[in-house]
Amino acid sequence: MPVQRLTVREMQLADVEIRINYFHDASDEDLHTLGVDRALLPTQEAWHSFYEEDYARPIQDRVNFSLVWELDGRAVGFSSVSKIVFGKEAFMHMHILSPTERQGGLGVGFVQKSTRIYFQVLELKQLFSEPNAFNVAPNRTLQRAGFRYLFTHETTPSPINFPQVATRWVVDRRGGRANDS
Ligand SMILES: CC(C)(COP(=O)(O)OP(=O)(O)OC[C@H]1O[C@@H](n2cnc3c(N)ncnc32)[C@H](O)[C@@H]1OP(=O)(O)O)[C@@H](O)C(=O)NCCC(=O)NCCS
Repeated sequence: MPVQRLTVREMQLADVEIRINYFHDASDEDLHTLGVDRALLPTQEAWHSFYEEDYARPIQDRVNFSLVWELDGRAVGFSSVSKIVFGKEAFMHMHILSPTERQGGLGVGFVQKSTRIYFQVLELKQLFSEPNAFNVAPNRTLQRAGFRYLFTHETTPSPINFPQVATRWVVDRRGGRANDS
């Protein structure tokens, strides 16, 4: 089988519909697994306006920073960080668009590449991720990608989430496979 080329690039403003449509087109079951409440999703127009404002900010002031995951040049997923404290920390999210392309070993590689970019571009010291505790895929993926488990707690991880039990993972700037270059 030919080797598949995984590339990770910064999501441009022209690409943000990838993320917006991903959530708006998701089934109720998928949203539940993600811990997302459909009623809390901004409208597509409002979400686009949010991105227009955010992309106009200098990198130090960005509220969100997203990456596109490409397989042989085709967008197959994305990652984003929120709760960014430039020069310090941020919280990472990860998604492969098509269910048929999940569980094939892509997620770990993309997460590791994304982690390196977040550390570099946002000058982070630590990168966290806090998936729903019952969502097995990201929890396993984070561990496999070199993140360290911290704790499990009840929280509302982001404005589109409902209150839930979430697990917090971390990788430090130095150490951990996810930060190897
Ligand atoms: C999370 C996600 C990006 C991981 O990517 P992936 O390509 O599916 O993951 P991989 O194939 O690289 O698998 C990584 C590890 O997770 C495990 N895993 C992945 N999906 C799993 C699932 N549904 N159930 C159980 N284990 C799973 C794999 O077995 C592997 O662990 P192992 O190597 O110890 O066996 C992808 O599954 C996804 O997009 N899921 C839906 C969106 C989502 O839940 N995002 C998380 C929000 S924070």
